[in-house]
Amino acid sequence: MYIFLGWLNLVLLVIASLLFVVRRIFKNLSNKKSPFALFLRKIMPTLQKIHPIIGFSFIVIGIIHGYLALGVIVLHTGLLVWLTAVIMGTIVGVGKAFKIKQQTWLKFHRPLAVLLWALFLLHYFNPWLI
Ligand code: HEM
Ligand code: HEM
Repeated sequence: MYIFLGWLNLVLLVIASLLFVVRRIFKNLSNKKSPFALFLRKIMPTLQKIHPIIGFSFIVIGIIHGYLALGVIVLHTGLLVWLTAVIMGTIVGVGKAFKIKQQTWLKFHRPLAVLLWALFLLHYFNPWLI
């Protein structure tokens, strides 16, 4: 079960990251009216809408997966992945609560996404490093 949840979480991570990837690809397209560009434009609002739900689900499933895998919550490469996602979600929450401009909190939320991917690779390829 924990293996299934680990992979399910990877799928959620990919979907959460698509928001950034799709926007970047669209920005760099020279023909903004091509069928591909229109397709990207069409899926963007959906990606934007589901992003916080996907992020939140990632956090919930992540801790269940970790608990099922180890039976306890201890310092582990997986916990580092999980904590990064929790910090990312907290930054969004604090940003919204204090009405901080999205451009400001995105300066932290976005690079943390890169860190999260790096930690995920560590968790997958060298899970027992710590
Ligand atoms: C509870 C967790 C999360 C919440 C509430 C959340 C919320 C948000 C919100 C509201 C935005 C601005 C979206 C917009 O431009 O309309 C955003 C952007 C972004 N989020 Fe999250 N997010 C969460 C988790 C994650 C995770 C786990 C990733 C992992 C990859 C991630 C990656 C990003 C990226 C890369 C952007 C920037 C998109 C861009 O520059 O176009 N987020 N997030
Ligand atoms: C509290 C957090 C976490 C803990 C304690 C934890 C723990 C573990 C453990 C013990 C394994 C088995 C390692 C092995 O011996 O091969 C594992 C595998 C894995 N974890 Fe995590 N993990 C956590 C969070 C996450 C998160 C957030 C993801 C997100 C994608 C994730 C994805 C995976 C994947 C894909 C595997 C490989 C499953 C397989 O064997 O095919 N884990 N995790």
